[in-house]
Amino acid sequence: MNKRYTTDEYVSMINAALERALEKCGDNVVCEAMKYSVRNGGKRIRPLLLLEFCRLCGGNVEDALPFACAIEMIHTYSLIHDDLPCMDNDDMRRGQPSCHIKFKEHFALLAGDGLLTHAFSSVLGSTVAKKDPEMTLEALSVLAEGAGNCGMIGGQVIDLESEGIRITSDTLEKMDRLKTGALIRAAAVMGVIAAHGESEAKKAAADFAEKLGQAFQVVDDILDVTGNEETLGKPVGSDTQSDKSTYVSLLGIEMSQLFAKKLTDEALASLEYFGEEASYLRDFSEKLLSRRN
Ligand code: IPE
Ligand code: IPE
Ligand code: MG
Ligand code: MG
Ligand code: MG
Repeated sequence: MNKRYTTDEYVSMINAALERALEKCGDNVVCEAMKYSVRNGGKRIRPLLLLEFCRLCGGNVEDALPFACAIEMIHTYSLIHDDLPCMDNDDMRRGQPSCHIKFKEHFALLAGDGLLTHAFSSVLGSTVAKKDPEMTLEALSVLAEGAGNCGMIGGQVIDLESEGIRITSDTLEKMDRLKTGALIRAAAVMGVIAAHGESEAKKAAADFAEKLGQAFQVVDDILDVTGNEETLGKPVGSDTQSDKSTYVSLLGIEMSQLFAKKLTDEALASLEYFGEEASYLRDFSEKLLSRRN
């Protein structure tokens, strides 16, 4: 089996690769805003999952790094746009002023667009794309699908349409599966693709990550009520202020906690396909359930 990595090792690799990828994003204020938002930290859970799935399926983690950077850039773009006054109107992100507070709305909008575009161009310019174009094509189409209007964007649409109204649990489930689950799912599947894993592995990774992603959003909704602003790095009470539809607004805190645990257990069941070697992902999933940020 491939060498194992710790979370700190993964995060260092991801941050170094992101720095290299962002060297070529231009030299104007939008490039500065792109770097500001990416460098502001974040847990890097999507690139981490991608790299670990690649390792788990016997792939070369170095080859997966351009894809890991791409998914983090797209996630960061989604956060920049999510914080805009026309969306969630949040002034803090990752413990710093949100991109539009620091760089004004028009440049934050363009920084998001820039990160989305750069995600694809940086993969296309990488060595792995030249070495393995077929695998790159497959991974990028999974990424585009997860990020697009049938994935993350579609979930954000439901989120915005659901402000101030009561929605069914089916709609809520769909919203979380798309706005958060879709990118997390794409990350896991891209990791398997980078390792040339078999289709059963892709399915197990997809099933795992979709449930994990939903659990992740339920915990995010809980933290919006119970969290500490300093630890969280973003405003507390934002969902209530915008009258968002969340599991907390539908079920209350305790039921939401139980639901997040149920989703995590379902996610863990899909890891059985990978056997003992998936112990990192088991720990990782448990930690996300009890996270404070
Ligand atoms: C925040 O995602 C937005 C959600 C999908 C809930 P993360 O909690 O992964 O944010 P960072 O990347 O760590 O800042
Ligand atoms: C965000 O959900 C999902 C995205 C696609 C960005 P939230 O709006 O709950 O994320 P936070 O709480 O602002 O990080
Ligand atoms: Mg939002
Ligand atoms: Mg938000
Ligand atoms: Mg939230």
